[in-house]
Amino acid sequence: MLAPAGMASALTLFIPLLLLLSSFSPKSAVAATADADAGIIEAQAPSPSPLLTDGGDDGGFIKGIFRSLLQNDGSTSEEAEGAAEGKPQASLYEPDFGIFDRGILGRAPPGVSSLTNNVPEMLNVVPGTTQVFVFEKALIFGRQEEEEDEEEKRRDAELRRREAGYEEGDGDDEHDSGSLDLEDIEIDEEGGAEGRPRLTRRQSGNSTTRTVYFSANTCIQPQLLSPTISGAAPQLTMYVSTTSENISPGPSSNPNHQKWYVFEEGAVMVTLNVSSDVYIGISAPNISTTMLSGLYNFQLAASVDDYYHNYDNETDANLIWVDSDSSASLLITHNLTDSTDAVTDNDIMNVQPYVMFAQNVEDRSADGVRFSYCGLQTYAQIAATKNGKFTSMVTTGMTLAGLGNLPKQQFYFSGLNASSSYVGILAALPQNGTGTIGSNVVGGGGKVARATSFQTKAANANCEVIFDLPFCNETAYAVPSNPTRFTNATQLAQVYDKYASDMFDIFTNVLAQIPCEAPDTQRYSLARTCADCSAAYKNWLCSVAIPRCSDFSDNSTWLQPRAISQPNPITGDFLAPALAAQYPNTTAFNSSRNPFIDETIAPGPYKEVLPCEDLCYSLVQSCPSNIGFSCPRPGYIGFNTSYGQRSEADEDGFVTCNYPGSAHYFSAGPAGPQSSWLAAAIVSVAVAMLMYMFV
Ligand SMILES: *[C@@H]1O[C@H](CO)[C@@H](O)[C@H](O)[C@H]1NC(C)=O
Ligand SMILES: *[C@@H]1O[C@H](CO)[C@@H](O)[C@H](O)[C@H]1NC(C)=O
Ligand SMILES: *[C@@H]1O[C@H](CO)[C@@H](O)[C@H](O)[C@H]1NC(C)=O
Ligand SMILES: *[C@@H]1O[C@H](CO)[C@@H](O)[C@H](O)[C@H]1NC(C)=O
Repeated sequence: MLAPAGMASALTLFIPLLLLLSSFSPKSAVAATADADAGIIEAQAPSPSPLLTDGGDDGGFIKGIFRSLLQNDGSTSEEAEGAAEGKPQASLYEPDFGIFDRGILGRAPPGVSSLTNNVPEMLNVVPGTTQVFVFEKALIFGRQEEEEDEEEKRRDAELRRREAGYEEGDGDDEHDSGSLDLEDIEIDEEGGAEGRPRLTRRQSGNSTTRTVYFSANTCIQPQLLSPTISGAAPQLTMYVSTTSENISPGPSSNPNHQKWYVFEEGAVMVTLNVSSDVYIGISAPNISTTMLSGLYNFQLAASVDDYYHNYDNETDANLIWVDSDSSASLLITHNLTDSTDAVTDNDIMNVQPYVMFAQNVEDRSADGVRFSYCGLQTYAQIAATKNGKFTSMVTTGMTLAGLGNLPKQQFYFSGLNASSSYVGILAALPQNGTGTIGSNVVGGGGKVARATSFQTKAANANCEVIFDLPFCNETAYAVPSNPTRFTNATQLAQVYDKYASDMFDIFTNVLAQIPCEAPDTQRYSLARTCADCSAAYKNWLCSVAIPRCSDFSDNSTWLQPRAISQPNPITGDFLAPALAAQYPNTTAFNSSRNPFIDETIAPGPYKEVLPCEDLCYSLVQSCPSNIGFSCPRPGYIGFNTSYGQRSEADEDGFVTCNYPGSAHYFSAGPAGPQSSWLAAAIVSVAVAMLMYMFV
């Protein structure tokens, strides 16, 4: 087993361990297989825990999701504060002035639909015409008054409770805490007749205007008459008037009495501070009947809480391309929270907050609606929606895999074309508890994020994406594969994972001989423990035992050709002699980095994204020196074919070296261990071998 093929890794695998492995008989390997199979961990079943806090740093996008998750009543804290303003007292409030029992629709001008807070209106609009809506002042402010009235009642009730001698934290308090924020109540200790504390309201906002969020999405647009015609349907325009002098805003109305906003990629978002009725016209442009046919359909919504439809092309896409093979791609979201407590939170692990759309860049069907949730549902090539198209091409779920083991949503797209470029578009689902899009929910129209690009590998590439490994649980990328031996990715993942886990068992036996958990005076290092050593070993092992695979045709300088004299298992072809002749006739090129891959997988020629050098340094630093780990130094023989280095290209979305959780990060990726080379850790092989005589 230490035959020539082992030489490539002799510098990387620590030598004594290899020696030990050479006595690892096939028989015991088989026995271990059975054990490990029994040990495959089932999906994590998180247990309930307190509600997630909003402490994360994932940016407003994520925070917004959790904030909404926690607010089923559709109110926001800003609104609660706004409602605390010294507005008309409860006695002045007309109880029959509610949203639904007023004959309000009758007040809208004929032909003008009235908008209701957070309820989208969906209408067709024929090219060259305009649909007009009104969001009436009474609705904008009536709702505010109603909320204030309820707030007032709650505070009165709270005050009475306090007067009656209840202490905070008593009995029912828990049930109320969601709706009553004690910090918003200021008690005026001096005030009030009979020395009774009097509630005063915090000042906020201007009572004569209110912020209203208007948003619209194009759901259907005229289609090109022929695929040879370039371009897409022109965008809709939203016209807005706040004056009664213009109650039907549109292209033919007085421009001094309206403002207009052209949709961008099928979406528009407008915030207004209003003190009166607002008239909205959604106008469809004339279209060229020789190029396009059909009409438009759109959704329009008004909200005093937040945008019902939302898009954000500014902030970093919250979607990370992990890796692809010829026909599939794996993408993940950022950590949905920074809090490890959340891992046991059922809410976060059971609700998938996103859907994803994917589009071959050659496919123009979604042009013009890329910021519209309903437009993407209509036109995106691949939608991960529950009732959408192509759902069989998408597998999604929550996962704790990857660096940090924090919750994130994972998307696996299959059935893609080889050597193709795609964009992935993530959209946050509105949070009404069930994760379904819907009316009467703040943000119910979905929030569309900036697109992330990803590519598939060449046809017949002998690399296959594996993920969700039980042991190497941070490993998720394309690995050298052989579809004739392993018909699916799950099977392939099991074989690699079992190999790594068997190796780890051996290491664990070695480590058990070392006094790590002994008293301080006997421990190998005060700074590092056995647990640190184990963790560093696992990171290193999973990256060297399960190589990250690239197309042989990819000529990036950081890739190491492997197994060049073997046939491609898919085509049966050997490398063209002229191509093979370009590479040195050495084991580093002629074989994989360990014999297991050539013997068990037999992938044929591939290129390896080498493990990052810092994985090795971290191992050397974290483990007792008498184990004998050592790393080759950059510039010395063996380094270039064994380890890779992080580089500036990583910030442009390349993966120049492999590490657990490696992915195509387009901004500054997570910083790796910044360790320096530790010369003192090199121990002579003889010493290390001596040590292993006792194992
Ligand atoms: C979104 O932002 C990206 C990156 O800044 C830009 O290339 C793209 O054109 C923008 N898309 C639209 C439709 O504005
Ligand atoms: C998740 O969090 C971990 C630990 O903080 C971090 O190292 C990792 O880069 C994060 N992952 C993503 C995808 O942002
Ligand atoms: C694959 O390519 C074919 C032919 O170009 C195209 O019609 C099809 O839409 C593509 N499929 C995907 C998922 O990109
Ligand atoms: C390379 O591998 C082939 C086939 O496995 C073998 O015949 C040949 O001797 C190897 N060459 C070297 C230099 O190891």
